[in-house]
Amino acid sequence: MPRLDYTERNVWRAPSRSIPTARRIEIRTIWNGVLSKPRDLIGPYRLARLIRVGSTCAVWEAIKGENERFALKVLRGDLRDNRQEINHLKHEFEVAHKLKHPNVIRVHEFTMDGKTPYLVLELYREQNMKLGLRAGYEKLAFYASKIIEQSAQAMYHLHEHGWVHCDIKPDNILLSEEGDVKLIDFTIAQRIRKGISKLLGGARKIRGTRSYMSPEQIRGQALDARADVYSLGCVAFELLGGKPPFTANTPDELLQKHLTGTIPSIQVLNENVTPEASNLLKRLMAKKPENRPNSMWDFIKELRTVKLFKKNPRLPQEKLMLDPDQFSDIDSLKKTGE
Ligand SMILES: Nc1ncnc2c1ncn2[C@@H]1O[C@H](COP(=O)(O)OP(=O)(O)OP(=O)(O)O)[C@@H](O)[C@H]1O
Ligand SMILES: [Mg+2]
Repeated sequence: MPRLDYTERNVWRAPSRSIPTARRIEIRTIWNGVLSKPRDLIGPYRLARLIRVGSTCAVWEAIKGENERFALKVLRGDLRDNRQEINHLKHEFEVAHKLKHPNVIRVHEFTMDGKTPYLVLELYREQNMKLGLRAGYEKLAFYASKIIEQSAQAMYHLHEHGWVHCDIKPDNILLSEEGDVKLIDFTIAQRIRKGISKLLGGARKIRGTRSYMSPEQIRGQALDARADVYSLGCVAFELLGGKPPFTANTPDELLQKHLTGTIPSIQVLNENVTPEASNLLKRLMAKKPENRPNSMWDFIKELRTVKLFKKNPRLPQEKLMLDPDQFSDIDSLKKTGE
């Protein structure tokens, strides 16, 4: 198996009154490291609220002028001279600035404030799907078909622009309380290779998230839209069954299961899923790309003909998403070994 370099980007939440003091100090230290000099202005943007701190970037809600709101993805202060990390942000802009689709977050600008590089994004005041899953996947069932279709539509738009996302996972899908989707995080997207160019290029750096990575991505092969089809299969499996298709005690074991493990049946986790939907999921997660739907569009057409549930799920009576303060990404990442 090739040596892997994963984008393992643990996420910390912003300080909150409900967090124990020691933990709050730990988080504040991280938070202060986000900008070399804590301040509340970046370029013309006033930082209003810290949404998320990742391993390399912080995402802020920011205000321009009177009340124009954006999300700013800002490189951490200690990384602002790191060429590679700057290039990742630039790359995300290059991939996404031309995308215009209701289910894809708008990426407006890549720019620098002094030496601090940042991206200006459309603000979506919703949580990522991971928080929804942690609140209980059963509550998402009512919207499952819409969530899967809108995610697929977003990816189809990206594929039509010649890119594979390569990091499809619940953290990178923002979800509203009505089950509407916005796809984010184009940091590791790759150009789709077609024809002869598939054979060129040689071994590339392998990046992605273990629980959702296609076998060809794990092997470092040239990728096309079907790699995202596989990852969407894993996400849809988790959405309908509450956990990803493969879990393991070690990272290598997890990868091995993607490469050779029997594709599990979603009906074991959720009896209410129809056999047709279960078979469609299995085909999304086929080991060989040629055994999956050929494109995201082919999948969408099929999805529309398939009934997901035997008994229609009820409209949820409570909020779909967890408040970020109720949730620690650090703890959950330790548990799942993603
Ligand atoms: N435009 C946005 N509007 C609102 N929230 C956002 C937006 N973009 C990102 N977020 C929040 O910030 C989180 C991290 O964003 P993103 O995935 O783009 O960064 P990342 O570099 O991948 O960070 P990580 O290291 O956490 O993976 C998202 O999961 C989401 O909760
Ligand atoms: Mg992300």
